[in-house]
Amino acid sequence: ISFEQSTQASAIVAQEIADLIRSKEAAGEKCVLGLATGSSPINVYAELVRMHKEEGLSFKNVITFNLDEYWPMEKSDVQSYHYFMHEHLFNHVDIPADQVNIPDGTVAQEEIKPFCIAYEAKIKAAGGLDFQLLGIGRTGHIGFNEPGSHFNSGTRMITLDYLTRADAAGSFRGLSNVPKKAITMGINTVLNANRIVLLGWGQNKAEILKETIEGEISSIVPATYLQEHENTTFVLDDAAASEL
Ligand code: GLP
Repeated sequence: ISFEQSTQASAIVAQEIADLIRSKEAAGEKCVLGLATGSSPINVYAELVRMHKEEGLSFKNVITFNLDEYWPMEKSDVQSYHYFMHEHLFNHVDIPADQVNIPDGTVAQEEIKPFCIAYEAKIKAAGGLDFQLLGIGRTGHIGFNEPGSHFNSGTRMITLDYLTRADAAGSFRGLSNVPKKAITMGINTVLNANRIVLLGWGQNKAEILKETIEGEISSIVPATYLQEHENTTFVLDDAAASEL
């Protein structure tokens, strides 16, 4: 579905998340959210914060798992996804700190494998993802699942593509400061979510969204795997949908 304005689209997605949080709470269950970073979800988070402040939407019952984090990366670094999530959402709502999960960019190299296995296990122990929010990178990545990612992949360390690092260079004050690696949930981790919403805004996403939605399913464009998920919606603005 596409909308004239991304703000309007973001409000609808935030409403769906709020409805899910409330219905899970009414059923006495936890609500498990998979969350994304990047510019695309910013207005969804802003709307959720507004609903928390003005409508009393509570996050006490919510468990979150973020998709990815650069490696190596300090949590306090302004470029970290840890910082981003606190800045845009967690610092402004009542989510208990121990219910927030973000891949840790400070783990030592030899600890990465056990960390990733534990991250997957934690998602399973929470009952799996009820809802996964996604953006898309111009390489066709979701999370940081770059071209070549297997559909059966789990949380792991990956090497970032040149285009991904070039797109991030602005916020890192230059390409040479962008980390070369990241820890990301896998394609399989994402596809196991009950519900997936991918956000895409602007003309510079139009081409990759056409490939993602209309192209052949292949690891060359990892986001094409979403075509096989039964409960995925692509929420786009008119510019991002312009090539469809
Ligand atoms: C990064 C993130 C992705 C995100 C992508 C697009 O690569 N790891 O999760 O989807 O950027 O970012 P933006 O929403 O800013 O276009």
